[in-house]
Amino acid sequence: MLKRYFGRTAAGEAADLYTLANACGVEASITTYGGALVSLKAPDRAGRFADVVLGFHDIDGYLNAEFYPGALVGRYANRIAKGRFALNGVEYKLACNNGENSLHGGIKGFDKAVWSACEIADGDPALELTHFSPDGDEGYPGALSVRVAYTLNQNSELRIDYSATTDKDTVLNLTNHAYFNLAGEGSGDILGHVAQLNADRFTPVDSGLIPTGESRPVEGTPFDFRRPTPIGARVNERDEQLELGHGYDHNFVVNGRAGTLRKAARVVDPKSGRVLDALTTEPGIQLYIGNFLDGLSVGKSARPYGRRSGFCLETQHFPDSPNRPEFPSTVLRAGEKFESTTVFRFSV
Ligand code: GLA
Repeated sequence: MLKRYFGRTAAGEAADLYTLANACGVEASITTYGGALVSLKAPDRAGRFADVVLGFHDIDGYLNAEFYPGALVGRYANRIAKGRFALNGVEYKLACNNGENSLHGGIKGFDKAVWSACEIADGDPALELTHFSPDGDEGYPGALSVRVAYTLNQNSELRIDYSATTDKDTVLNLTNHAYFNLAGEGSGDILGHVAQLNADRFTPVDSGLIPTGESRPVEGTPFDFRRPTPIGARVNERDEQLELGHGYDHNFVVNGRAGTLRKAARVVDPKSGRVLDALTTEPGIQLYIGNFLDGLSVGKSARPYGRRSGFCLETQHFPDSPNRPEFPSTVLRAGEKFESTTVFRFSV
């Protein structure tokens, strides 16, 4: 496993970059800053490699980017309405950083922490990252110990195993916020990519992108990706939910039993032939198509990341679950262990 210096945070903490490689030449690079997936090199149908995730060459790009590229997101990925929730009869107040809501863990979420790293020596190339979040961090209860292992196997699957324990009951929702562009990062928008989601339902939102509580059938809506459909095919249709999300920025309810690793999504770039399958044990997946990317960030290939130049498949619990008893629970009890797995499989 290669390791190099990636730069320093404003507080002077040093971050590194680790590169995992398999025998097919697929490479995944991960930085200890935010545990971010910095690059993923995968072949097209002619065997030509391209870097298929948005990102930056050094830490400075990450310090300046406000769109969570590649990052590990916590404690609570996605939004909690008005930055508050009650647990065991106690009201908790979180940092609000997205209008009146709390997004992706608050002001200094896990994406802005320098994680401790350790190579896992036996088997496929793997990197273990750990992070300790003290009681009260960003308003969340409980001292939380988080472990994330990235493993790249010989089938070109990047597997992400999450686990966590707490000393006090808390809520938790962990994800990875990689933006993929299967034609190569910086090569334009992803509207021609063909997506298929294993989801009969999605969770509609209000204007703050907070779920209304409904779990709505995708049938007959632009959210029906049960058959492979270009991402851009219906994105400009007049649809209340597309308008509220500024495009796709929604949680889909993954079919099948949460807790079992099952197919959540497949995205194909017809031009290069690259295929990305996402499997997860999580109950939901956020399809976010980079609606807020504004072209001001210039990425690894020196080209700007414009609107919809990458898509995210954020495997997760549903947004605002701490305030939604009807959604699968995000409560982690003291003494219990949270475990979750997501696999991104690359093929042609
Ligand atoms: C998420 C959200 C989006 C946006 C991005 C970060 O995926 O759902 O609305 O905030 O993160 O830019």
